[in-house]
Amino acid sequence: MAVLKLYTYPDDILTKKCEKVTEVTQDIRTLLDDMLETMYKDKGVGLAAPQIGVLKRLIVIDDKVTEDGIPGPHPLFLINPEIIEKSAETIVFNEGCLSVPGQCANVERHARITLKYQDKDGIEQILKAEGYLAVIIQHETDHLDGILYIDRISRLKRNMIIKKLKKQGDC
Ligand code: NI
Repeated sequence: MAVLKLYTYPDDILTKKCEKVTEVTQDIRTLLDDMLETMYKDKGVGLAAPQIGVLKRLIVIDDKVTEDGIPGPHPLFLINPEIIEKSAETIVFNEGCLSVPGQCANVERHARITLKYQDKDGIEQILKAEGYLAVIIQHETDHLDGILYIDRISRLKRNMIIKKLKKQGDC
């Protein structure tokens, strides 16, 4: 496995829409493993392919990762994820992003979702998620459409974060 280069705001690649993966090859599986290693190294709970400069619909998630970056028991590898159901009820979480380093903000998301995706064997799976995991999935699937969490907050808060990013402040 290898640690990959992370792309951060305002890199243009983070604003692009990703393409579907047509075949789950060994190269794709290796890329997912490298994404997971990169995510753990930077103590993230999720990482989408555009964040490592690849415009494909790939995500890795570990909602059980500890603050020390110790991996949880069941990392998720999501290929071509698609949210097929969303609850009307919403929740607000304080979100951060490895591509928006050192910053965070409250973002409103659907409280429960149903996700369709392919696993590492290319087999279609259905996952129902709520709470923290549902938030991570929505944050990461947004990345595949070129959307960052700072695109989902008020312009005022967004501008504050961008200003702080330039000074590299902490949350
Ligand atoms: Ni992110």
